[in-house]
Amino acid sequence: MDKIIYGSEIAAKCKEDLKVEIEGYKAKGMRLPQLVVILVGDDVGSQSYVKGKEKACEAIGMQNATIRYDASISEEKLIEKIQELNYDDNVDGILVQLPLPSHIDTNRVLFSINPDKDVDGFHPYNIGKMIIGEDTFLPCTPKGIIKILESIGYDDLSGKNAVVIGRSNIVGKPIAQLLLNKNATVQMTHSRTKNIEDIVKHADIVVAAVGRAKLVKKEWIKEDAVVIDVGVNRGEDGKLCGDVDFDDVIDKVKYITPVPKGVGPMTIAMLLENTVESYRKRED
Ligand code: GUN
Repeated sequence: MDKIIYGSEIAAKCKEDLKVEIEGYKAKGMRLPQLVVILVGDDVGSQSYVKGKEKACEAIGMQNATIRYDASISEEKLIEKIQELNYDDNVDGILVQLPLPSHIDTNRVLFSINPDKDVDGFHPYNIGKMIIGEDTFLPCTPKGIIKILESIGYDDLSGKNAVVIGRSNIVGKPIAQLLLNKNATVQMTHSRTKNIEDIVKHADIVVAAVGRAKLVKKEWIKEDAVVIDVGVNRGEDGKLCGDVDFDDVIDKVKYITPVPKGVGPMTIAMLLENTVESYRKRED
């Protein structure tokens, strides 16, 4: 059905373009783009994300390395390694997989990454640039959501009401900012918001990123809304599902992203794109 937006297809096209670009560098005998991922501890979700990143890099011919540390590593050791990568001219992107163990100050670690290699877009310098609308690395999931909206012609969002559910640093806060940068009228809702449903009812664009299986129902949705579902949850039936009750809302929406094959694949594609962007700047 046309109203289902498969991020997996948009991501495949992005990756194909990047692959061709990298083949071009290879043919010229140039250094190739390189992403380094740091993984601390043995969180199952993180391991699986990192595997996905490795596979994606290999598929497009991008150099990649994963540095694995035991959960007991000290903050100092971790930051020392990041400093080394900051100065390594063969490294274009540095990504520290989150979450980090609780004895490590996550912000201190993220702030130690060279902003020019911060392909996750999590460094406060890059977040600041995003807020004032300067060109910079954008966080991957929000950047992917913007590409999804552009794919359906939602480019200038003047006059549109957008409602974001969830206020995480990784998705909720940055996507609200990017929607605002595109002239949408943006409202943020979260676990402490009263009557979320009444706010979502006014939304032309809904971005759900709370991590609550099938929270958003038909009654919440305005007729012909565009629904972007960032959630990855297990439903009561044990199957993967989003934050939106897909089957319930499908007849009412103009467009919707499915889970899986919706936003998820865009995140990795944008990470690869950011790494190639970093490479281009470095090689220029
Ligand atoms: N953990 C969950 N999502 C992300 C992400 O986009 N980047 C990093 N570094 N860690 C994550």
